[in-house]
Amino acid sequence: MVTLPVAERPLNVGEMVVADYRKAEVFRKYGIDYCCGGKKPLEEVCRQKGIDLQNVQNDLNALDQKPDDAGQNFDIWELDALAAHIVEKHHNYVSESVPMLYELGAKVARVHGERHPELIEIANLFRAVGQELQMHMHKEELMLFPQIAKMAASRRNGTSITRPFFGSVENPIHMMESEHESSGNDMEEIRRLSHDFTPPMDACTSYCVLYAKLQEFEQDLHQHVHLENNILFPKSITLEKEFFPA
Ligand SMILES: [Fe+2]
Ligand SMILES: [Fe+2]
Repeated sequence: MVTLPVAERPLNVGEMVVADYRKAEVFRKYGIDYCCGGKKPLEEVCRQKGIDLQNVQNDLNALDQKPDDAGQNFDIWELDALAAHIVEKHHNYVSESVPMLYELGAKVARVHGERHPELIEIANLFRAVGQELQMHMHKEELMLFPQIAKMAASRRNGTSITRPFFGSVENPIHMMESEHESSGNDMEEIRRLSHDFTPPMDACTSYCVLYAKLQEFEQDLHQHVHLENNILFPKSITLEKEFFPA
């Protein structure tokens, strides 16, 4: 398949969110994945998922009537600042939420798992997501993000840098993207098992809190992965080429 340059084709859903972050909220409403599956045009995603394109477009057009949120244009941020923001906002959110969700998921599965066996599956799947993400963030914070920060600072200061031990940022980035996909798939399965995070009629408060927190976790993960896959990673690859032209 030949990929046309951006100027010659309509923006894909990931690029639409890069251009205006508020679009993420509309895509979220329709269950459109703008991070891991963000490289497809909107028409194609709607056709595949049976979503009415016109409704989505009406909601997107309505955004143009509202002023843009100040400080949300991550596309113009320096890459070291963006990496620091991701760690502070999203990595910390994951680290804080995972133990609480492990405990709550296990408790609700223990109490209601007999009548709602999907809760046991959800608790197990979330345990896998939490473990994967903690390892994943550790790798980003230890290897990839420091190299990105070094490149951003060197460009500002006009200094040179040496190649990292992993050769090129493209190597860890490919690994990080495939790990994002894996966690995204697990969260999608949790969404399916929980009927889009809708608690049943007989749900107690803990059950409702569990589903609300899982939904919040999924939303945060979407924004987190969007910032990495659609902005930080491609821009880091481009920046690296300034230091080490092919
Ligand atoms: Fe991350
Ligand atoms: Fe990541």
